[in-house]
Amino acid sequence: MSTRASRSSSTPCQRKPTRRDDWPGYSLDLFTYPEHYHEDIESVYIPHGVIMNRIERLASYIMDDFEDNNIMVLCVLKGGYKFCADLVEFIKVLGRNSNKYLETRVEFIRLKSYLNDHSTEDLHIIGSRDLSILRGKVCAIVDTGKTMKALLKHVETFEPKMVKVAGLLVKRVPNMAERLTDYVGFEIPNRFVVGYALDYNEYFRDLNHICVISKTGKMKYKV
Ligand code: HPA
Ligand code: MG
Repeated sequence: MSTRASRSSSTPCQRKPTRRDDWPGYSLDLFTYPEHYHEDIESVYIPHGVIMNRIERLASYIMDDFEDNNIMVLCVLKGGYKFCADLVEFIKVLGRNSNKYLETRVEFIRLKSYLNDHSTEDLHIIGSRDLSILRGKVCAIVDTGKTMKALLKHVETFEPKMVKVAGLLVKRVPNMAERLTDYVGFEIPNRFVVGYALDYNEYFRDLNHICVISKTGKMKYKV
């Protein structure tokens, strides 16, 4: 079976929350966030509670779609670690509350393509273990939504039985990753955001909300 064919065949076209180009985000005083980032963020783009509820919904789609009760989850570090952990947790909780239990094993892969807030051309796969463990398995790649094309090509060389992709954010750009992403959290404009494990030069990963960085923040943490 071609992995590419099996990727696209069964996932229904799901609606997704979409942020319009002119959405400025919520004013900071409406939410709580770590005091040390006070001057470094401009607005709350997607509050943590909204992220969590959306991930629960994605977990329920996954539960409905997967016939195999055994999936290998490939978590893309570092930006995808929170999304992956929360998604796997919701899959477990939903499984406990129904009679369909999906067994999940998690593997990690590390990618780097951003310097400051610019995407660099090269996709670096760093610290990747031998992924032959994926061979013949049903596999879900969990990422925040970029660099998917190159990663999929890499994963498919290990001949998994089926590959599905979950992306928390898909940015509206020409050649959007959406077509490659079976489970989309949010569609957003092509702007740089931080928080919920997404970084700017390794800062802001500890912020729970997805936020827009301020000019001060960009200057302060520039390398
Ligand atoms: N923020 C942080 N890291 C990223 C982003 C982003 O918006 N897009 C791709 N990597
Ligand atoms: Mg980064």
